[in-house]
Amino acid sequence: MSAILRVDDLYKFFGRSDSQTAVLRGLSFAVEPGRFVCIMGPSGSGKSTLLHLIAGLDEPSAGKVELAGEDLSKLGQRARTLLRRRTVGYVFQFFNLLPNLSVTENVGLPLSIAGQGRAVRESIVPPLLERFGIVARKQALPHELSGGEMQRTSIARALAGGQPLLLCDEPTGNLSQKAGLEVMETLREVCDRDGRTVLLVTHNPRDAAFADEVRFLVDGRLETERVLHGPNLTVDDVHEALSALQI
Ligand SMILES: Nc1ncnc2c1ncn2[C@@H]1O[C@H](COP(=O)(O)OP(=O)(O)O)[C@@H](O)[C@H]1O
Ligand SMILES: [Mg+2]
Repeated sequence: MSAILRVDDLYKFFGRSDSQTAVLRGLSFAVEPGRFVCIMGPSGSGKSTLLHLIAGLDEPSAGKVELAGEDLSKLGQRARTLLRRRTVGYVFQFFNLLPNLSVTENVGLPLSIAGQGRAVRESIVPPLLERFGIVARKQALPHELSGGEMQRTSIARALAGGQPLLLCDEPTGNLSQKAGLEVMETLREVCDRDGRTVLLVTHNPRDAAFADEVRFLVDGRLETERVLHGPNLTVDDVHEALSALQI
């Protein structure tokens, strides 16, 4: 099976040439379709930077990202945007819902952007609202929702567009314990039931234990000696790996 995502010897430097910081230093991995992969690293280790590079929102200093078999560096801005819209759904710590749009409109946004008409939106959006327990909130604006409702809205939005890969950046970072757990169960189901591929970046061991595979980002590289493989990873497995790696 060919990987939906391939990252090859990726580097990212920030700053002026006389005072550069290397955030990512030769990072390589691949994700097979339908897998739930987690990359763990402490705050400031480059997790969000990595997702930006994967989504083509920023460009690497060196190395390559292949998304759905396409080398991003070989695409112009426009083609990259189109590939991202087709391939990637993004779930953020701070939700990134459009503040002036209702829940229904936010969830339907990828369809509107793709030029789908009302009939298509009305066949796809309501079942998602139902499924994610936000149907009673369908007219609400984002600021009227709880954190859990906001995140479930953003997962529904990511599913609405039909993109095969969900990039999740600390999706429970701004939620209560309980709402966070529900969001993780939802992401696991999106993988198991909908066959979507999930790439989660987090520093939360509980969240990492939901994955099929956990890798550790240390000093800008992925630790090769220690990769956790599911199913049925536990939070203790993750804690044990973290203490062995002293992170
Ligand atoms: N646009 C940028 N310009 C300069 N430095 C940046 C930029 N984005 C991120 N960084 C730096 O890169 C490092 C990694 O950041 P980030 O990817 O946000 O880490 P994480 O998501 O793991 O917390 C941090 O030291 C951060 O300050
Ligand atoms: Mg981050």
